[in-house]
Amino acid sequence: MRVTWAAAALRLDDIGHVFRSRGGERTVALGGVSFAVDPGAVVALVGPSGCGKSTLLRIAAGLQIPSDGSVTIGGEPVSGPNPAVGMVFQRPALLPWRTVLENVLLPADVRGRRDQAAQREAADLLDLVGLAGFAGHYPAELSGGMQGRVGLARALASEPSVLLMDEPFGALDALGREAMAIELQRVWGGRQPTVMLVTHDVEEAVLLADRVLVMTPRPGRISADLAIDLPRPRTLDLLTSDAFVGQTVAVRAALRGPVGPAAG
Ligand SMILES: Nc1ncnc2c1ncn2[C@@H]1O[C@H](COP(=O)(O)OP(=O)(O)O)[C@@H](O)[C@H]1O
Ligand SMILES: [Mg+2]
Repeated sequence: MRVTWAAAALRLDDIGHVFRSRGGERTVALGGVSFAVDPGAVVALVGPSGCGKSTLLRIAAGLQIPSDGSVTIGGEPVSGPNPAVGMVFQRPALLPWRTVLENVLLPADVRGRRDQAAQREAADLLDLVGLAGFAGHYPAELSGGMQGRVGLARALASEPSVLLMDEPFGALDALGREAMAIELQRVWGGRQPTVMLVTHDVEEAVLLADRVLVMTPRPGRISADLAIDLPRPRTLDLLTSDAFVGQTVAVRAALRGPVGPAAG
């Protein structure tokens, strides 16, 4: 397996986004979001439902052009879908007529090079996400959580410099999420892409991230940027430590905001 992929810095400058409906209604989804992520760092983005997290991720991926502001990856402006970016969607959107292995080979097919190295890499990635025995299965034969893992393997198969993940464990129960979070560190550990993870789960954010960015309700802005100073590799034992609990308390306080309790 390849040892290192070059992680790239991700930078968002003053991103604003307005959706316009056909009836002319405006939804201001994002207002002035700026932050930078160092190469190889893991940032988690938390915020209430509807605050623009998915929109921000799609903008970072080049899947949505922002109304305002700019995105750069490795210093290069992002103006459309970018081969340096791997994206794990909320719903994995696997191709139902392709086997698990063939879904992971999709990025290789798109680049027109499904060679032996690509086949080996796809098999390695399935092994890494714990699905070595399911290569020949079809997506419909897998649980939601397993489908999510295939989505992750597929995103990694494109050898991303930046990995963007939108609530990738939504289909898992709490225990499954924690276990997957631990496994993810192993996946990242060998590859070190720059990671931006969207989650509404504060424990998951603190467990995985070097930094947690807290967003306000719509229009989404960054209201807090908290360094997560916990040793790596993070383990499940950490979940009950005072240091971990203290960090989650700080994130929850930032989510509530400065002016009294907020919904969500
Ligand atoms: N394609 C779209 N057209 C119109 N409004 C949208 C669209 N996508 C998202 N929105 C609106 O933008 C806001 C932010 O949405 P989203 O980024 O999905 O939030 P989150 O992921 O934080 O729940 C919401 O009010 C949502 O209804
Ligand atoms: Mg979302």
